Amino acid sequence: MCGIVGYIGAKEKKNILLDGLKELEYRGYDSAGIAIIENGELKHFKAVGKLKNLRDKTKKYSSSGFGVAIGHTRWATHGKPTELNAHPHLGEYSFVVHNGIIENYQEIKNELEDVGVNFLSQTDTETIVHLFEKNNTNLNNPFHAFKKTISKLNGAYATLLITEAEPESIFFAKNGSPMLIGFNGDEIYFASSDTPIIGKATEVYYLEDGEYGYAKNGEVKLFDSIGIEKEIIKKPLATDKKMAQKDGFRFFMEKEIYEQSQVMNDCMIGRVLDNRIEFEELDSNLFRDINSIKICACGTSYHSALTGAYLLERLAKIPTQVEIASEFRYKEPLLQKDTLFITISQSGETADTLEALKMANRAGLKSLTICNVDNSSIVRESSSAILTRAGIEKGVASTKAFATQTMVLWMLTLYIAELKGNISKDRLDDELHAIRKIPKALIVTDRLHDKIHRLSKRYLHGHGFFFIGRDIFFPLALEGALKLKEISYLHAEGYPAGEMKHGPIALADSELFTIALMPKSLHYDKIKSNVEELSARDATILAISPEEFELADDFIKTKYSSHAMLEFFEMMVITQLLALEISIRLGNDVDMPRNLAKSVTVE
Ligand code: G6P
Repeated sequence: MCGIVGYIGAKEKKNILLDGLKELEYRGYDSAGIAIIENGELKHFKAVGKLKNLRDKTKKYSSSGFGVAIGHTRWATHGKPTELNAHPHLGEYSFVVHNGIIENYQEIKNELEDVGVNFLSQTDTETIVHLFEKNNTNLNNPFHAFKKTISKLNGAYATLLITEAEPESIFFAKNGSPMLIGFNGDEIYFASSDTPIIGKATEVYYLEDGEYGYAKNGEVKLFDSIGIEKEIIKKPLATDKKMAQKDGFRFFMEKEIYEQSQVMNDCMIGRVLDNRIEFEELDSNLFRDINSIKICACGTSYHSALTGAYLLERLAKIPTQVEIASEFRYKEPLLQKDTLFITISQSGETADTLEALKMANRAGLKSLTICNVDNSSIVRESSSAILTRAGIEKGVASTKAFATQTMVLWMLTLYIAELKGNISKDRLDDELHAIRKIPKALIVTDRLHDKIHRLSKRYLHGHGFFFIGRDIFFPLALEGALKLKEISYLHAEGYPAGEMKHGPIALADSELFTIALMPKSLHYDKIKSNVEELSARDATILAISPEEFELADDFIKTKYSSHAMLEFFEMMVITQLLALEISIRLGNDVDMPRNLAKSVTVE
C-alpha cells in the first residue's frame, strides 16, 4: 500500500507531485505529503485525509525553476494516520518517503535514540532519515551515507531521499516494494507504479530488488545489490493510462487475481505477530459478555461469512450463525445482547447489509464490520471495524476482497480463541504457521494459468456446472459457482458434496460439469465417495486436488496439503482463473458483466 512520486527538473513541481499522487491515492489515503528543494531551500507540506486536503493546503504555493521533489500518499501500518506520521519524514536537513516495512526499525531507532536523536513520529520510516544524517555526519558524503543506511535496513522498502546536503539529487533504493524511474530528456521521475508518470515520461526503467542509486543533472547512477554500477536499459512507456492501470492484464479482474498474494501481505501486516494475532483497531472489551456471533452479508461477502462461521465454531468455540442480509431484514429476527453482530462488505455501501446493521444497532447489539472501504456507510455505522486492505477492487466479480475478508475472519477467529482461552498454544502456533504461508499459496504461476486456459475450452457448453465441496470447501464451492455465473452467464451452482445424492444427482449426465474441490487435509475420503457417485452417473468431473484421482476427466493438481486453509486459498485461485478463462473465451466483458453492479445501494 502507499504511493510514491518523485521528480527532478525545471517544471512546476507541486502539480507534478499532486497529480501523480492522485493516481496512487486508491492505494492509501489516510494522509499525504510533499517535500521540495529549490534554490537550496527545503519546503514541505502534509495533510491528514484525502489528497484534496493537501491540495487545499498548498493552494498558495507554487515552485519555479530547477528543483527536486518527493511526495507520498499513506496507508498507515506503523502509527496512526496523523500529520506527524505522514510522509515525507524530516531529519535535520533531509526528507524521506518510503513504502513497505522496515522490520528492524525498532532496533535502529533504539540505537539512534541512545545517541540523542529525537523522533517525532511512530513510523518505521523516520529511522531512515535519521540514520542517513548520522551516517552523513560521519562520512561527509551523502551518497555513501545513503548506501550505508540502506545496507542496514531489513524488510521491504521503496524509498526516496532528498537532502540539503546535496540539493540537486534524489537518492533511491528498492527492495521488495515496487519503484520505477521515468525519463523525459533531462527530466527524471520516480513512482511506485507507472500510472503517475504516463503522459509525462517517455521511457521507463523498473527497478529490481536490491538496486539503489541517485539521480542528478538529468542522469541516473544505478547500482545493483552488490554495489556494482549497472547500465540502465530503458523501455518505452505506455501512453494509454487505462491499459497501464491494468498493468498489462486483459481485465482488472485478472490483475486483481494476480494481486492477491501482495494484498494478503498488506492484510496481515501488523496483525500476524510471532505468537499471536493482534488487531490494533479492536478494543478487547468488544468481546466481553459475548456468547455468540451473527454474521450478515450479501453475495461474495456472504460466502466469506459462511467460511468464517466454520472457523469460529471450530477454533474459537463460539456459536456462529450466518444470514443473508436481505433475508435477515424481514424475518423479524430475535436479537440478543450477548450476540456480536458482524457485517461483511467489500464496498461498505450495500443497502441490505447496512439496514441489517442498523437493526442490530437499534436492538442494542455490539457491532463489528469487516470492510474494504474506510469511512463507508457501514464502517461509520459500526461500533468497530477491521479493514481488509485489499485496495480498490474494480472488477465487479469480487476476488481479492473475498480473499482478504476470509483472511480477516481467520485471524479474528484466532484472536477470539486466544482471548477466550479456547485454543491451545500448539494449535495456535500451527495456525499461525499456516497463515504465514498464504501469500505464497496465492501466487499465480504461468504453468497453472496456461493449464486452466487450455482446460477452459472444454467447458463452454453443457447444461450446467456443480461446484461441490465439504466443510469450508462448501462456501468455496458456492463462491466458485457465483464467480462463474457472474461473468460467463453459464448456469452454475455450489452444493455441499454430501447433499448431491438428495436431489441434484438426478441431473447427472456427461453434459453436467462437476468441479470437485477435493482437499487432502479435510474429509478427503468422504468427498471422494461423493464424486465417485457422480462419476458412476457419467457426470464430467474436473477434480482439483493434491491427490491424483483416476475417475477425473480433467485434473488440476494442487501443491498444498498440510492445512485446510492453505488448500482453500490455493483452490480459490483456481476457481477464479477458471471462471475468468471460460468467460474470456465466451467473449464477455469480464470486468463489467451484464446486469450487475459493483456496489448495490438499493434494496
Ligand atoms: C454486488 C456485487 C457482488 C458483491 C455484493 C455484496 O452484488 O456484484 O460482487 O459480493 O454486491 O457487496 P459488498 O460490497 O457488500 O461486499
